[in-house]
Amino acid sequence: MKRVLSGIQPSGDLHLGNYFGAIRQWISLQEKHECFYFLADLHSLTTVHDPEVLERNTYEAAITYLSCGLDPDTAVIFRQSDVPFHTELAWILSTVTPMGLLERAHSYKDKTSKGISPSVGLFTYPVLMAADILMYQADLVPVGKDQKQHVEITRDIAEKFHLAYGESFVLPEPYIPEEVAVIPGTDGQKMSKSYNNTLPIFAEEAVLKKKVMGIVTDSAEVSEKKKPEGNTIYELYKLVAPEKAPEMAKKFKAGGYGYGEAKKELLEALTDFLKPIWEKRKSIELRGNFVEEVLQEGARKARAEAEKTMRKVRELVGI
Ligand code: TRP
Repeated sequence: MKRVLSGIQPSGDLHLGNYFGAIRQWISLQEKHECFYFLADLHSLTTVHDPEVLERNTYEAAITYLSCGLDPDTAVIFRQSDVPFHTELAWILSTVTPMGLLERAHSYKDKTSKGISPSVGLFTYPVLMAADILMYQADLVPVGKDQKQHVEITRDIAEKFHLAYGESFVLPEPYIPEEVAVIPGTDGQKMSKSYNNTLPIFAEEAVLKKKVMGIVTDSAEVSEKKKPEGNTIYELYKLVAPEKAPEMAKKFKAGGYGYGEAKKELLEALTDFLKPIWEKRKSIELRGNFVEEVLQEGARKARAEAEKTMRKVRELVGI
């Protein structure tokens, strides 16, 4: 049994890319390991300066995860800002973190090049992330490829701390399953909110239909034989209806099977796939304050764990 930890920045409506790229891994890991999953709302402050938006996004992310099957009886699910030790540890770690290490971080450069304002918080974002991870002595950190460097920076920061004060932290490994390939969006590029090509988990059925029917394809005639691999409709179908995918592949290869028909089949499979998640959400909403209760209980467990690390760290540094 390993200690697993991961966080997401609550940034609005989650989509199938988030589901297949992250949520699904979190859910399968919770069955075998001791998992800590949290909403990185302090990290979101680097980009969101509207309190209502932040609060809504945080709730939305929490209810999405619970609806998809994250189980608060198995995993510890909490909100980062409910455990103030994170910022304390981040400060302490920042005092052993070389500037050069952060200057090499890709995400800071990517984000500022997209117009996000270059605040000190954005620059030191990886130090807070290191604190999140080291606090819980995590062995494995399931993340997307874009976060791999942050986990490496975390290990470097831990080693700097060890050099100054002695062994204290587990050195974490990133966990990036091979099959978490890029999930294609409706335009064929990687599904991402910033490309406006997503299939949201909680879209109205009419919206979903419009998006699926709008999937970009080549202009092959219905009669032509088509290659299923690399075709967005097929790639998405394979994710939501893996057991039926070979059938669709056969039809594409045989010819006489058009993209319009394939899209209709995809829409049906997608709706079948999402329905239980929609229903779970409805049942959670009927339970009044359930989401908040889950987060409060998670925070209590997380704080107890964080306190162990902080007691040691404070003693080591002399405060
Ligand atoms: N930076 C991560 C992201 O944008 C979110 C995150 C914050 C995180 N702290 C973390 C992920 C700790 C894993 C572990 O997706």
